Amino acid sequence: MGTSIANVLFSVPASESAHTKSPESRAMEQHNNSNMMHNCKFEVPEIIFGRGMLSQVGSCARRLGGKKIFLVSDKGLFNAGWVDMAMRSLLDAGLEFIYYDNVTPNPKDHEVEDGFREYLRHGADVIVGLGGGSAMDAAKGVAILVANGGRIHDFEGHDKISRPLPPLVLCPTTCGTGSDVSQFAVINDTRRRCKITIMSRCVAPDISLTDPDTLATLPDEFVCTTATDALSHAMEAFFSVASTTLTDVHAIKALRLLTASLVTAVHERRDDDMENLARASLHAGMAFSNSLLGIVHALAHPIGGLYDANHGSINAILLPEVIRYDIPVVTDKLQELAWGLGHRANGDISAASDKIQETLDALLEASGAPRSLRSIGVQRQDLPELAKRALQDVCIVTSPREADEEDLLNILERAF
Ligand SMILES: [Fe+2]
Repeated sequence: MGTSIANVLFSVPASESAHTKSPESRAMEQHNNSNMMHNCKFEVPEIIFGRGMLSQVGSCARRLGGKKIFLVSDKGLFNAGWVDMAMRSLLDAGLEFIYYDNVTPNPKDHEVEDGFREYLRHGADVIVGLGGGSAMDAAKGVAILVANGGRIHDFEGHDKISRPLPPLVLCPTTCGTGSDVSQFAVINDTRRRCKITIMSRCVAPDISLTDPDTLATLPDEFVCTTATDALSHAMEAFFSVASTTLTDVHAIKALRLLTASLVTAVHERRDDDMENLARASLHAGMAFSNSLLGIVHALAHPIGGLYDANHGSINAILLPEVIRYDIPVVTDKLQELAWGLGHRANGDISAASDKIQETLDALLEASGAPRSLRSIGVQRQDLPELAKRALQDVCIVTSPREADEEDLLNILERAF
């Protein structure tokens, strides 16, 4: 991948792979990275959050200079009525729009490239993405091509985008993706059957607009599977070697909200719990966009690409195993993490470790998340190839504990 932590955070030109270096160069890099961690850089878009705020999407797009808006969403959301609300807001703001809904879960390269051609054909000038991670990542993909041309695959990896994107407003309607604040876009390469991760500060939108009311129509199964994505974002961001006090505060806030509301939101769907999940998604998104992720997402991307499986479900299955793997090297953070999960810190690291693992297991079990890779259709014979592919994912770079192919395969076996 040619990516180091310093490269990722501060856009230093990439050099050799983090996993093929000599022990000396790796030690030097770890030293440099350790120094780098005393520095902070924290970037987020303009954020608008509140009930009914989707009605403001038109004024947001107009404020960004839009006259003809390229509205990206998916067919399921149209039936829920939120697309109609966004369209009315755009019209009320005096804007024209083109509606593009050729987006499926785990958005595909050809869907992004079709969207790009539609954008050009209609001469649009601002992009609005409305929906879950798929619609928002597709909107980002279209924006990348509008500014840079080429094929979406050309931008895989870190910092491959040379020209700034057209203005972008992203409106999440699920409670986990974080795409509305993040510098990531994940697109499915349909030829190779894998997900490509595009990471660049250019990819973060101009405005993130969350209206928790939109969660009212989220199908039951997606409450759990998108919130467990947020859970994974928060925990991985907290353990990331690139975490800082600025990202930790958002990761812990997300975990406290999820601990309080995940299970009741899944089973009772009360408005205040659903709003807590939307807030948790936002906080976790701000955390991981700035500290990046780890092994859960490095493995989840190739699994999602190969099986077209639900991203949050994969994360929910992998997270406990990866946390168990990481814990021995993050003992200095366990007390705070245990507090984030609702426990009183008493200075006992071993007790904190136990509490974290017990609480995580209990949360996932009570929320009905899938617990094995086998249950979502993963085939055992594919595990070695998945471990190999995960080593190439940009998310592996900030894992707190180094992992080789055998380590990743062990994690997959335990989660199988
Ligand atoms: Fe995720």
